[in-house]
Amino acid sequence: MGKNKLQRYAENKELENVIEHGAFGEDDFSHKGRWAQEVFGNKNPIIVELACGKGEYTTSLAERFPNKNFIGIDIKGDRIWKGAKRAIEQNLDNVRFLRCFIDHLDQYFSKGEIHEFWITFPDPFLKKSDAKKRLTSPKFLSIYRKIAEESATVHLKTDSEQLFRFTEWVIENQQLPVIRRFDDLYGEGPADELLSIKTYYEKKHLAAGRKIHFISFSLTS
Ligand SMILES: C[S@@+](CC[C@H](N)C(=O)[O-])C[C@H]1O[C@@H](n2cnc3c(N)ncnc32)[C@H](O)[C@@H]1O
Repeated sequence: MGKNKLQRYAENKELENVIEHGAFGEDDFSHKGRWAQEVFGNKNPIIVELACGKGEYTTSLAERFPNKNFIGIDIKGDRIWKGAKRAIEQNLDNVRFLRCFIDHLDQYFSKGEIHEFWITFPDPFLKKSDAKKRLTSPKFLSIYRKIAEESATVHLKTDSEQLFRFTEWVIENQQLPVIRRFDDLYGEGPADELLSIKTYYEKKHLAAGRKIHFISFSLTS
């Protein structure tokens, strides 16, 4: 393992805006149901960025919406270190990073605690045998429902046409209302300011000439 990675793992333990669990840090299911009050010291809604990597959406949205709380979630500690450092440099006290598997989110949060989900360039897991690992699979949507507020929405940005079509199929199957959909986000007229925030992976996909797909939908029909 690279020296940089080990250094970042060690630093994460000292950063006040990084929360780790189990093998990665202290046991921290303790905030379940009390994140806003205990962690952020307010009653503001909580928005999560799943598979956040370096957390570009987490920090950019937090800057624009100081009256909301943002949590970037990923299992890779060296990536969330980057977002956590940026949030500290920018004095963003409405940002936290949680290092955990998204598969276990219902152990960390209570029903109704999360108001919005951003899923930014998740691994598409294209092999049929890996379909359950896709972050918009029925399995994952049911995990999100366990912690979501009733009107919660999910926003997906992806370069993967297959993952995009799969997500549309899940949405249709579960009869979930689609809020907005762009097959070619930057090719379909003036892009929205929030949708134009670019993540590390998105920049790489754009440089390679790939189309970016976007869809947002409600978690309940
Ligand atoms: C392709 S990267 C995208 C990172 C970032 N959103 C971006 O656009 O630059 C996918 C990320 O998903 C994370 N990931 C995939 N499955 C996960 C899971 N089940 N739980 C937590 N993180 C996961 C990986 O660690 C990785 O950082």
